[in-house]
Amino acid sequence: MTRSITGLVASAAIAGFMVASPASAAEGDVAKGERTYKTKCRSCHAVKPDVKRVGPSLFAIMGRKCGTAPKTRFSKGYKAACEAKSFTWDEASIDAYIKDPAGYMSELAGKKVSSPMRAVRIRKESDRVNIIAYLKTLK
Ligand code: HEC
Repeated sequence: MTRSITGLVASAAIAGFMVASPASAAEGDVAKGERTYKTKCRSCHAVKPDVKRVGPSLFAIMGRKCGTAPKTRFSKGYKAACEAKSFTWDEASIDAYIKDPAGYMSELAGKKVSSPMRAVRIRKESDRVNIIAYLKTLK
C-alpha cells in the first residue's frame, strides 16, 4: 500500500514536470511578435543597428549589457538599476521589464525609480513570449 502511494506521488510529480517544462520553454510566434512590436514598441525603438528614436535600437538586444546601447542617454532610474545590479538583457530580464518597466527597474535599483517605458505594460504572457521570439531574430 505504502509502496503504491509512493509510486503514485512520484509519477504525478513526473507528469507535472513534463507538463510544466514545455510551457516555460515556449517558443513564441515571431510574426505575431513583430506585429506587437509595431503597435507597442516601434514608436520608440528602431530595429536597425544604431538608429535611435526615443529609446535605443533593439537590434542585437539579446546579450547586450545594460547601459551600453550606442547613442543613448539613459534615464536616472535605468542608470541606478544598472549601477546597482549590472545585468545583460536576456529572455527573463526582457520579460520582466516589458511586463512592468518601472517595477522591474525599481527592483534592480533597490529603490523606487521611474522609467520612460512605464506606460508599456505587456500583461499577456503570450504577447511577451512572441515579442521576445521576434527580438531574438534581430541580429
Ligand atoms: C514611450 C517610448 C517607449 C516605448 C513605447 C517602448 N520603449 Fe523600450 N525604451 C524606451 C527608452 C527611452 C529606453 C531607455 C531606457 C531608460 O532610459 O530608462 C528603453 C529601453 C528599452 C530596453 C533596454 C535597451 C538597452 O539597451 O538597455 C528594452 C529591451 C526595451 N526598451 C524594449 C522595449 C519593448 C520590447 C517595447 C515594446 C513592448 C518597448 N521597449 C516600448 C522607450 C520606449
